[in-house]
Amino acid sequence: MIVPTKDLFKVAYGKFAVGAYNINNLEQCMGLFRGCVDSQAPFIIQISKGARSYTHKKMLEALLLAANDVFPDAIFAVHLDHGDEDTCMDCIKSGVYSSVMIDASHESLDKNIEITRRIADAAHAKGISVEAELGQLGGVEEHVSVSEDKAHLTNPDQAVEFVKRSGCDCLACAIGTSHGAYKFTGSQGIHFEILEGIQKLLPGFPLVMHGSSSVPQDEVARINAAGGSLKGAKGVDENQFAKAAKLGVTKVNIDTDGRLVWTRVHREFFRDKPEKFDLRDPGKVFMAEYAKFISHKNGKLGSNGQLAAIRAAVGK
Ligand code: G3H
Ligand code: 13P
Ligand code: ZN
Repeated sequence: MIVPTKDLFKVAYGKFAVGAYNINNLEQCMGLFRGCVDSQAPFIIQISKGARSYTHKKMLEALLLAANDVFPDAIFAVHLDHGDEDTCMDCIKSGVYSSVMIDASHESLDKNIEITRRIADAAHAKGISVEAELGQLGGVEEHVSVSEDKAHLTNPDQAVEFVKRSGCDCLACAIGTSHGAYKFTGSQGIHFEILEGIQKLLPGFPLVMHGSSSVPQDEVARINAAGGSLKGAKGVDENQFAKAAKLGVTKVNIDTDGRLVWTRVHREFFRDKPEKFDLRDPGKVFMAEYAKFISHKNGKLGSNGQLAAIRAAVGK
């Protein structure tokens, strides 16, 4: 069942975080649904601009509508990840999305507010909620490149003004994480003081943590042992999700970790079975491994076992 993103946030706020997982293809979609049904967790399917154009934007929409039929117990929202203005407007019109992210964080504060306000007005008219970003994450985003040392963390006072003037429904905060497999150098880590500051000023307002992959070291080691070359890859400590959830983080974005599962499965499969060439053979292994990974992550986010609470909240 597809539900409004804001309904998931109402149940989750202060208690647990909902996993927002990016998908690009059939196998990721199947693994995601299986893992969330196995762990009885609500979830958010994220589709990026790159994922929409990987084949055709209609392909992923059709895929998740089919998965909704195949997995009648699943409860999820559909979200555009890191949208620009045109893509947001297109998703608002599509009838499939529960929420969109407008990422104008690279603009000045006033321009970011102006763009976000336009998207919020259009989205709210259709019952769709809006995630906006204030501050800049390190690393590479789809259409924005921000070098680590120039990353700007979110300013809590500015967040209050931004939320009030932009009309956004949840806020992606820059708290020291970055996208991809190479996060943090030295003793850097999550800036919990920023979450604390925002929660004090905006109690009850849902926050979003981007760049939340944990880049498991055993996964990296297995990839490298099977011919990969990921040197110095490092991620977020997944045991810190619970603390972030208490501080108002209701959505935790995870993409890179799923890519690592895919890479490990396929590298090991073809290393160990060089005679094989049927794409369905590693595909089956990947779907099972991805479902296991998702189930584990939902445990760390505290979203496992929450389907009954969501069902009660949405009256189904
Ligand atoms: O934040 C970026 C997400 O990981 C999506 O990545 O733009 O390569 O699909 P992508
Ligand atoms: P990771 O690269 O850490 O998985 O972050 C994904 C993300 O923030 C998508 O918006
Ligand atoms: Zn992101």
